Amino acid sequence: MSNFKYKRNQLYCEDVQLKEVAESAGTPLYIYSEQSLIDKYKELKQAFAFVKPLICYSVKANSNLAICSILTKQGAGLDIVSGGELYRATKIKANCKKIVFAGVGKTEQEIKQAIKANILLINAESKQEVERIDEIADKLGKRVQIGLRLNPNISAGGHGYIQTAKEENKFGISLQEIKEIFLQKEKFPHLDICGIHFHLGSQITHPQPFVKALKKTISLIQQLGNKQIKISYLDIGGGFFQPPLQFAQAILPLIKNLKAKLILEPGRYLTAGSGILLTKVLYIKERKQGKKIVIVDAGMNDFLRPSLYDAHHEILPVIRTPNNEHRTTNTDIVGPVCESGDFFAKDRKLALFKNGDFLAVLDTGAYGFSMASNYNSRLRPAEVLIKGNKFFLVREREEYKDLIRREKILTDGG
Ligand code: LLP
Repeated sequence: MSNFKYKRNQLYCEDVQLKEVAESAGTPLYIYSEQSLIDKYKELKQAFAFVKPLICYSVKANSNLAICSILTKQGAGLDIVSGGELYRATKIKANCKKIVFAGVGKTEQEIKQAIKANILLINAESKQEVERIDEIADKLGKRVQIGLRLNPNISAGGHGYIQTAKEENKFGISLQEIKEIFLQKEKFPHLDICGIHFHLGSQITHPQPFVKALKKTISLIQQLGNKQIKISYLDIGGGFFQPPLQFAQAILPLIKNLKAKLILEPGRYLTAGSGILLTKVLYIKERKQGKKIVIVDAGMNDFLRPSLYDAHHEILPVIRTPNNEHRTTNTDIVGPVCESGDFFAKDRKLALFKNGDFLAVLDTGAYGFSMASNYNSRLRPAEVLIKGNKFFLVREREEYKDLIRREKILTDGG
């Protein structure tokens, strides 16, 4: 959190005092540090400099156009999972030759869109999808580069919902079936099957699962090589959440002799620590044995991770006072949504807060706004980008009219 710091007891992002931003843009409010994004990108690029990977930022983590374009300007490509994310990529004029497209359920429409945009790789997740891409490429009169997503049958990642590489998960193709597809590649005359992809899960804090998956993949690449089948791209997905040097040191020895271009798809690593969610204390309830329930103006619709994954996010006061600096109270921080699962902290020892205080929920730059919804007909928050001593609104707060846009009231006749 190096770009979010206290200076004279005021929380700052870069050189901007967050209390001022909260007062000017209102709360709930997502705040991102441009410098953090750039630093993270450079740190990863540096750790892997030896193999010059293509770093494809995983748009789902934070799809705000300003965030994506900061990263593409640094040279990043994009990892997308939908036609909507491809649409965003075209809006920021991203280089389509640096876009990879994953997802178990790509529609015909999305595949067409990707082929027409000439993206680098469509990473197919089933043999049926390979057949479909071939048919569509035929119709469009194109030859298309694809990768095959391997399901390496490995346990990795935090919460069960974000593990993706076990055989029982819906993702990817088994090792055996991948070999079969490669051996029958003449059946797909409109495809150049030239990549192997895997994505193991999210919040992986140790390189070991990558080492395991890579060993399987490298042996596959060697077996294919023996049959004169060449792999040009090795895409090892995202999910890593540890210092990149540690990660690079564990996997570089395995891949340094491979001819394939390495692709990385980081999402959380680049954006999580680059963002916070600012919220304001509305009410405080006292419960038995000194427990406090602090009700804030952000809810699970604004930030879902604690409710969905029981995720832990640190919560800090935007202004440190003698009152809240040292005292710790047994506290729940909850939102206004009509569900008991609507919380940011449960039974946590926190500072003593009071009505009107601004709080910062940390590490919310990834899977924060991108998972926000209008549940309870709540307006989704605004997003602000900080650059040095200036701040910019990069998404306006929604208004009530946004809530009902595209709805219709039927008249008696239907
Ligand atoms: N590549 C693929 C194919 C993915 O499915 C994902 C994430 C990534 C890359 C980026 O993973 P990352 O580096 O961000 O861990 N909503 C959950 C995380 C779901 C991740 C889904 N796929 C959360 O809030 O923890």
